[in-house]
Amino acid sequence: MALPQSSKVNYGGDYNPEQWPTEVWDKDYEAFDAAHIDTLTVGVFDWALLQPAENTYDLDVLQDILDRAHAEGRQVCLATATGGMPPWLATDYPEVNRVDFDGRKHKYGQRHNACHSSPVYRRLAAALAGKIAERYGDHPAVFAWHVNNEYGGFGGACYCENCEKEFRIWLKDKYGTLERLNEAWYTTFWSHRFTDWDQIVAPSILTEHWRSQDHTAFQGITLDYYRFTTDNMLRTYREEKEALRKFSDLPVTTNFMGAYRPLDYHRWAEHLDFASWDNYPPDERSAPRMALQHDLMRGLKDGQPFWVMEQTPSTTASRVANPIKRPGILGLWSWQSVAHGADAVLYFQMRQGRGACEKYHGAVLNHSGRLDTRTFLEAAQLGKEFKALGGATLGLRTPARVAVLFDWDSWWAVEMSDGPNREVRYMDVMVRYYTALWEAGADVDVVPVTAALDKYDVVVAPLLHMLKDDIATKLHAVAERGGTVISSVLSGRVDVDDQAFLDVVPGPLKDLFGIRIDEIDARPADEPNPVRVGEVESEGTLVFDIIAAHTAEVVATYGADFYAGSPAVTRNNYGAGDAWFVGTILDQTGTDAVIRSAIERHGLIGPFADVPLLEHTRRGNVEFLLNHGCEPAELTAHVSGTDLVTGAAVVEGQPVTLEPNGVLVLQRGSENVGE
Ligand code: GLA
Ligand code: ZN
Repeated sequence: MALPQSSKVNYGGDYNPEQWPTEVWDKDYEAFDAAHIDTLTVGVFDWALLQPAENTYDLDVLQDILDRAHAEGRQVCLATATGGMPPWLATDYPEVNRVDFDGRKHKYGQRHNACHSSPVYRRLAAALAGKIAERYGDHPAVFAWHVNNEYGGFGGACYCENCEKEFRIWLKDKYGTLERLNEAWYTTFWSHRFTDWDQIVAPSILTEHWRSQDHTAFQGITLDYYRFTTDNMLRTYREEKEALRKFSDLPVTTNFMGAYRPLDYHRWAEHLDFASWDNYPPDERSAPRMALQHDLMRGLKDGQPFWVMEQTPSTTASRVANPIKRPGILGLWSWQSVAHGADAVLYFQMRQGRGACEKYHGAVLNHSGRLDTRTFLEAAQLGKEFKALGGATLGLRTPARVAVLFDWDSWWAVEMSDGPNREVRYMDVMVRYYTALWEAGADVDVVPVTAALDKYDVVVAPLLHMLKDDIATKLHAVAERGGTVISSVLSGRVDVDDQAFLDVVPGPLKDLFGIRIDEIDARPADEPNPVRVGEVESEGTLVFDIIAAHTAEVVATYGADFYAGSPAVTRNNYGAGDAWFVGTILDQTGTDAVIRSAIERHGLIGPFADVPLLEHTRRGNVEFLLNHGCEPAELTAHVSGTDLVTGAAVVEGQPVTLEPNGVLVLQRGSENVGE
């Protein structure tokens, strides 16, 4: 089961006509016509309307909405409505309410707030999904299912007694015996040997944690609680999906949140028919961070295109300050998602709500409902462009020869570790390496450590803290057959139980990198160490591996401290390929220099690598150029083809100007070239 059937990039978004009188619906559809909006996500928060009491379902609410959508030729991604619980559920069955990390039992309020161990919640959520599918699974407007909403929002895990019971069952299944569990958790430390499963409690601020979710006495316990929480929410998702499947074969998704730390989306991926995510970047300088997350979401389903389920057309409301998208940004970022594999670009939401906490959140139609606002006009322009594009990009794959390994276990482990440096942030380091590849113009797949690596020339694995499964063997194989492996400080440190290797660092990777590390230094962020990479002056910060190069050649050395002159970056010939190790957290300049020297050997530096903030990606026979800079980019076309938006011919070697926020979608070698 793959993506929903479509003949063009699906365009539209979250639509809540149940909040409005039907006269407003007429206006909605006038606007949808004007903006070429063809896809509506319906019913995400309708539980209270659809089931006003435990034994009363009122599914008529959706009938008119779906009939109207169909009459107007729109396709609907229909939600199972379980993202927010109705008040009666939380008051009749307090067990459905979460206990938070601080041990507080919640009462009714907000959304995304259910305890996924509650048998009542699980039963009623699945039942509602089933009822909706039974009634509307064959409705001609419905073409996809949207289960729940943003799992794990509202603080992530629950720590209630039902969750503790489920955790114990999960642990029994994983370890079989307490003996194995005690070994994995290293419980002889601090007198923690468990002699009965019932002694195990959820790791929270009342138990193993102090200060925060990242400060835990037992990393093994906390890691397992993260894994359990993922599996536990996945179970309710699967129960809803099974309920849908009884009545409908349509593709099923749930909207993820990109690189969202609390849930390991890789554990989830096989249960999605297609991946989708909500793209709300923190600021206007996030182009590579968004690109990384698009690639991560595409990597969930082995490169299959995904959907952007939500983005704001103008502004968010939940931040301290909520900047509005500058003119042109909406189009640029939407095209960027298509450039990275999106087959749908959807908004939250179509019409701005009147009340409650999202009344200032942007929408395609604002409170005035006017069709001549900047936001509406930009959304309509984009709708027109997608219409012109038609189906030309649908289903096309990214021909990436570079893989970046992304691993939630390593993310959790590295950030919850006591020592060597609390300031190391997994995503910051990932973004830095990704940015170097992005600026160099290499297409990238962001994949789990379980992915097959055979098709990649280069595998980049920063902060690969935990080595599990056969990843060490696979990395050796990449270099063996002539590929390049790049890794960094804090890699190859622990096994799947977060226990150190009884070996020199980087443990099972030491021969691949041809180095040995006995000591690691850590300093505050404002005490960098200069590292010169070739001609480039850069700095390392936070952590510093003190490296002895055995078979490796020294690429760069530290400039200060007692280890001045010792290797900071190394490169080892291994098999027919090589393996680079970066012993510190290099700044962007240094990371760029390393990445470019490493990928050059494979011809992976793109044609526009020297134009800053000019993004270049490919999908099948389509090339995307996006100018994220503030200046026009004066380029020379690197291939001939047709601009899929304007229909204009582009000829190789001829000048092309891309204005700031400008986009060129070029189909290579189309027949009208040169006409
Ligand atoms: C999330 C939710 C939506 C809405 C938006 C606002 O992504 O899924 O319901 O709250 O945020 O940005
Ligand atoms: Zn719970």
